[in-house]
Amino acid sequence: MNITIFGSGYVGLVTAVCFAEVGNDVLCVDVDERKVAMLRRGESPIYEPGLSELLKSNYEAGRIRFTTSAEEGAKHGLYQFIAVGTPPNEDGSADMKYVLAVAKSIGQYIDGYRVVISKSTVPVGTADRVRAAVAAELKARGASHEFDVVSNPEFLKEGAAIADFTKPDRIVVGSDSLRATEHMQQLYAPFNRNHDRVVVMDVRSSEMTKYAANAMLATKISFMNEMANLAEKLGADIEKVRIGIGSDPRIGYQFIYPGCGYGGSCFPKDVKALIHMAEEVGFEAAVLQGVEDVNNQQKGVLFEKISAHFGGDLAGKTIGLWGLAFKPRTDDMREAPSRNLMEALWAAGAKVRAYDPVAAHETHRIYGDRADLVYAKSPEDAAEGADALALVTEWKVFASPNFATLAKLLKQPVIFDGRNQYDPAYLKKAGFQYYSIGRKP
Ligand code: UGA
Repeated sequence: MNITIFGSGYVGLVTAVCFAEVGNDVLCVDVDERKVAMLRRGESPIYEPGLSELLKSNYEAGRIRFTTSAEEGAKHGLYQFIAVGTPPNEDGSADMKYVLAVAKSIGQYIDGYRVVISKSTVPVGTADRVRAAVAAELKARGASHEFDVVSNPEFLKEGAAIADFTKPDRIVVGSDSLRATEHMQQLYAPFNRNHDRVVVMDVRSSEMTKYAANAMLATKISFMNEMANLAEKLGADIEKVRIGIGSDPRIGYQFIYPGCGYGGSCFPKDVKALIHMAEEVGFEAAVLQGVEDVNNQQKGVLFEKISAHFGGDLAGKTIGLWGLAFKPRTDDMREAPSRNLMEALWAAGAKVRAYDPVAAHETHRIYGDRADLVYAKSPEDAAEGADALALVTEWKVFASPNFATLAKLLKQPVIFDGRNQYDPAYLKKAGFQYYSIGRKP
């Protein structure tokens, strides 16, 4: 089947290689010439486990191609995926200009029936705007090609995107046309073999499903972070509470890990966008606002603990930092809690020695070279000579350090753990002062 994917970002590329891998003929369109040139060399512009390999093999097999020509894209695929960015506006709403520009190009160039599929996370009602934009262009050039607009949100997790795509929990299809629904079922058949995962619904419900899913997950995290902060005050241990509540299958063990706040390109953006959508229809989303507020506070919790430990005087201190990416197995620094911590430490006059297995490069792109940031070469290098160590991202390489060595490397044996990676009793025995989230120091 011929598939066109507008947008060679994270979602677009993963979608493209996964469809190519099952034998489709995929054409990716992106306005960024440098990115297209890179992809044409078979190189992936982003880090995602398994992506480079799939990109290379499918590119060599001729099942995936790259272009900057919207016209070529619109003419190629029966399926026209819109997977371009929807960055947040200042007021938290999602910026639709890239999505609508693609819709316009599709209307300008298609030469037959098309299924236009909205894959980007877009506000409820966007499909109607896409439909209107395509129709307006067709009308302007006196063309009468038929098309349908479908909402097909993605539920990929960074670091596990290929597996999430090829073995999905569900494939949500928002469609008000039987013709388009049947095409979507054919398209996803290779990923829908053993039991039917396609959930068909109306377009608006599908658009909202994406936001509601992310908002629910963000709510679980903020709820647990609130419980963690309360546990500290009440003298309870949040890790015990977590296991105590997770055993109830209605609550479940997943996504109830307290920490130093959620980050990434999705949760913060989607929660804000949903709050904004609510405001627009005169509805006060009280829970969502709470989720957002708690998360913003939580990103400051490690700094508060560090500052309190040093009696509010961090000038001239050096903090070793383990982990920069917003979560393990990605180099994504968007809304990463490490950024809040580093910026607060710098503002207080402290220096940072940071180590991350893959995100140093991205960190350097954001912050560049600065006297108060050392890009350490190893976990040990980050700790060497530091006044304390802070763990922000739970990469496996930090799971079981040699604490005796660490105690020698640090000026003082102090650890601030934003992801509750260690056993407080064990660390106490090893001679550390150990601060974590929701447990007594
Ligand atoms: C999230 C969703 O999990 C995906 O289902 C969704 O498709 C995606 O957003 C999206 O909208 O594109 P992702 O942003 O890759 O995926 O990251 P998650 O693995 O969900 O983690 C988000 C943040 O929550 C991380 O900062 C993580 O450290 C934090 N988190 C997660 C916790 O603090 N506690 C937990 O128990 C779980």
